[in-house]
Amino acid sequence: MALFGLGGSKSTVALDIGSGYLKLVAMDHGKGEPVLSRVAVAPVLADAIVEGEVMDPDIVADTVQGLFKSAGIKQKQVVVAVGGRDVIIKKIQVDRMKESDAYEVVRWEAQQHVPFDIEAVELDFQILDPDGEGLQMDVLLVAAKRDLVEDKLQLLAQAGLEAVIVDVDAFALHNAFELNYPEAKQGVVALLNIGHEVTNVNILLGGIPLLTRDLSIGTRKFREDLQRERGMSAEDADALLQGYELTADLEPFVQNRGEEMAVGLERAGAFLQTAARDAGTLQRVYCCGGGARIPGLSDVLGQRLRLPVEVATPLQRLRVKDQVFDTVNADEVGPLLMLATGLALRARR
Ligand SMILES: Nc1ncnc2c1ncn2[C@@H]1O[C@H](COP(=O)(O)OP(=O)(O)OP(=O)(O)O)[C@@H](O)[C@H]1O
Ligand SMILES: [Mg+2]
Repeated sequence: MALFGLGGSKSTVALDIGSGYLKLVAMDHGKGEPVLSRVAVAPVLADAIVEGEVMDPDIVADTVQGLFKSAGIKQKQVVVAVGGRDVIIKKIQVDRMKESDAYEVVRWEAQQHVPFDIEAVELDFQILDPDGEGLQMDVLLVAAKRDLVEDKLQLLAQAGLEAVIVDVDAFALHNAFELNYPEAKQGVVALLNIGHEVTNVNILLGGIPLLTRDLSIGTRKFREDLQRERGMSAEDADALLQGYELTADLEPFVQNRGEEMAVGLERAGAFLQTAARDAGTLQRVYCCGGGARIPGLSDVLGQRLRLPVEVATPLQRLRVKDQVFDTVNADEVGPLLMLATGLALRARR
């Protein structure tokens, strides 16, 4: 599902515009399985993107252009995603009908579920049980504020790019995760994408997204802790967070912030129990995003939640062309690429 899309070439270029890092992934969609053919990342200047909002489009557009140049990519068509508060994903039920007839009905239903003016949203939906026989069918509804989509398109235009698909963060994460962790299709699992500012929580049942939530916590908070409480420079703090050792300086913050994240996840889980009684309880947690690499964080989450927690990467099963990771460290950058990989997996038919 995507908010809109067009047909096109065999290679998909995806761009994940994060508040900390820009991530570019190119995927070849020839015959057979998709193959990752290019990766590039670049830091975003501090505060150019705050809470998902691009404060300084000039700087971000320049950084995007630089990224394409460094990756040697000339293709201008890209796949991007929107997410956050202004995107609503909801499972609804409507009378069973053909997909082609459903749009008007879903749009009408959407008015009851979407807290924004329906005239100002981009809407899409997917029938979750197309082969079901009941009188009603489950429909996954997606609504994004049109402003959000338009701002993104404009930013891309400024960088000389054109969005061929605008996807939704949660779906892209899910797509990449599903391909790489087929074993997670059983029971209830959570995928945490721990970014610079936001942690996207995705709870899946039998591989199907049940609940998505954003927690306002990411690597930025850990960095600020270290700056404020330990007098470190931003660079030193980042080096510690991207290192391999849980030092005495870092330990208390990993403990506290880890607790905070665990509570956020538990709340989402509790909501799940009321929303879907037969769903069962959470069995395993996968973490991706730059924050997943913070030394000791997955251990703290595991102890607090009493669950197995593992770091997830889109490179777990994905085929990768030779030399893609000659200049980028796959172990270090891999976890950051889940969203962009999910976007790039969209073969354009
Ligand atoms: N190898 C790495 N390269 C760059 N950043 C890394 C690396 N490992 C960990 N990090 C940390 O992860 C952060 C970026 O993670 P990520 O790309 O997931 O966030 P983002 O998508 O930019 O943020 P958000 O989704 O919240 O807007 C950086 O701020 C940095 O602290
Ligand atoms: Mg991100």
